[in-house]
Amino acid sequence: MCEDWENMISKGIILAGGAGTRMSPLTKAVNKQLLPIYDKPLIFYPLSILMLSKIRDILIIVNKGQIGQYKKLLQDGKNLGIRITYLEQIKPKGLPDAFILGEKFIGKKNVAMILGDNFFYGQGLSKNLNNCTKLKSGAKVLLHKVSNPELFGVAKVNKNNKILKIAEKPKKNISNLAVTGLYFFDNNVVKYSKTLKPSKRGEIEIIDLLNIYKKKNKLSADYIGRGGAWLDTGSIEDYFKTLLFVHAIENRQGVKIACLEEIALHNKWIKKSHIQNQIKFYGNCSYSNYLKKILKISA
Ligand code: TTP
Repeated sequence: MCEDWENMISKGIILAGGAGTRMSPLTKAVNKQLLPIYDKPLIFYPLSILMLSKIRDILIIVNKGQIGQYKKLLQDGKNLGIRITYLEQIKPKGLPDAFILGEKFIGKKNVAMILGDNFFYGQGLSKNLNNCTKLKSGAKVLLHKVSNPELFGVAKVNKNNKILKIAEKPKKNISNLAVTGLYFFDNNVVKYSKTLKPSKRGEIEIIDLLNIYKKKNKLSADYIGRGGAWLDTGSIEDYFKTLLFVHAIENRQGVKIACLEEIALHNKWIKKSHIQNQIKFYGNCSYSNYLKKILKISA
């Protein structure tokens, strides 16, 4: 089947700043997204999700003074077959600030946004993602079933996957479907984000942005099914759970989760010579050994 790539979402933002308060003291000197999840920095995981969505033009928003650290790790993305641009967020003003800061990057296009500390994994995920990037107008969120909905933003959905109600950490149960940190928006997102007023905690809120779309009957959902995992690595406990999850899967199956070069090669965005460059860049480590294995398999 020939996909209509021209009309699919081609731009994505990773919001990788934040205070990281819950992870302190780990995050006092190092940004959360640069901390390791087992064998690679956390930022690799959300970046891999955008790449699996076939998004190649990526803006990474980081805290003031941290562009250098991210550039040292990911450079301009050429060896991964993508284009990475960086921007600073002077202070954490809230998630929709991504679209205000990213206005120039977004231009007239639709855009995906993923939180830098969110982890997604599972069978059929790429297919789901490719479905979401077909969005033409409105907004789409990815939902995942949770046992403790009172701790999340949750959504009530009708049988056509339209969202009827959305609420942040509701005391009364309206649904057990949590809104994950991966969103797809049409170009109105820039305009709508600019109208948002800060909440009591002093941030502009994603729930208010989503509610604008919901009121216009333009907010829909897709799902990460039972075979999939979504983890928010924002607290020490969840961070540690994610690390254990990656360790278990990688060692059991002998495959790596979020190996960026493997995804890029699979997408036919890079050649083997790019992988050779990356092996030199990373040096003698288990990640490089895995890349060498990929080169051998695809020889
Ligand atoms: P949060 O988990 O809401 O915030 P945080 O990472 O600052 O952590 P804490 O609550 O412990 O202080 O943020 C979700 C993700 O979005 C995280 O990866 C950081 C990022 N973020 C920004 O980059 N800018 C922002 O203004 C906000 C609110 C979050």
